[in-house]
Amino acid sequence: MEGLEDGRAALRKARGVVMFTGAGVSAESGVPTFRDPTDGLWSRYRPEELASAQAFARDPVLVWRWYADRRRGIRQCRPNPAHTALARFLLRRSDATLVTQNVDGLHQLALEEEARNEGSPPVEWERMLSLHGDIFRVRCTRCPYGRTQREPMGVEDEESLPRCPDCDRLLRPDVVWFGEVLPREALEGALRAARRADICLVVGTSAVVYPAASIPRATLDGGGRLIEVNPARTALSALADWRIAEPAGRALPALLDRLPDPTEP
Ligand code: OAD
Repeated sequence: MEGLEDGRAALRKARGVVMFTGAGVSAESGVPTFRDPTDGLWSRYRPEELASAQAFARDPVLVWRWYADRRRGIRQCRPNPAHTALARFLLRRSDATLVTQNVDGLHQLALEEEARNEGSPPVEWERMLSLHGDIFRVRCTRCPYGRTQREPMGVEDEESLPRCPDCDRLLRPDVVWFGEVLPREALEGALRAARRADICLVVGTSAVVYPAASIPRATLDGGGRLIEVNPARTALSALADWRIAEPAGRALPALLDRLPDPTEP
């Protein structure tokens, strides 16, 4: 794999590593990405047309059906070797931070499983940051109410849509939509870690959705370097020092497993 040995050498020496992931890291688990061409049920809609407060106000049934479909698919999915390799790296390297745009919860699941296997304590919250929310949470469109909701809900018509138990307004998925602000602490924490990092490892993202896409650029601004893992070229490829043009499930175990921890004496 081109870029692999150089990437490993750079990671071995690095002080501060940020891993920045997108939908591609979950592709081998069976979660569809957003921008790759598909002939699926939803291929005629662009994500911007469904994932927005305007779309929800216009047609909440359509938006809820899209999310119900994604939730149904994701519920069947398991972490793949890419999630596991990232989780192990995060548990072993105290100078690493994982920042994800994904809402599928597969990084968190892999981390829980690996921490249990290795008998490690869970990582501090500021080293596992989700920028776009959690598809298995719902929240009220008006009041502060929110809860975890893994079980399916009725979304066939307006009458059956889930409603807030406190104020009776519609509930919505607790994810960040286009035009909405990202959770402040997570974004600030991610930018801080990215600016300090020697390396940003960018995996499975087209890196076109801002402000999330400013994370790898913050590492470059701070004098650090990029490793990109993605079978296709992206907006970041020209800026990457090393590119591994392979699926994440193949590339990440080869890149990350059994790297010694430079922060240990
Ligand atoms: P995209 O669908 O834009 O990009 C997925 C990327 O993953 C592409 O560059 C693919 O080439 C790459 N890819 C596909 N299979 C892969 C594999 N097996 N291994 C590695 N890479 C692979 O998804 P994101 O960049 O995550 O936001 O999209 C960013 C945001 O836009 C999402 O978080 C979501 C979306 O609309 C919100 O919902 C707010």
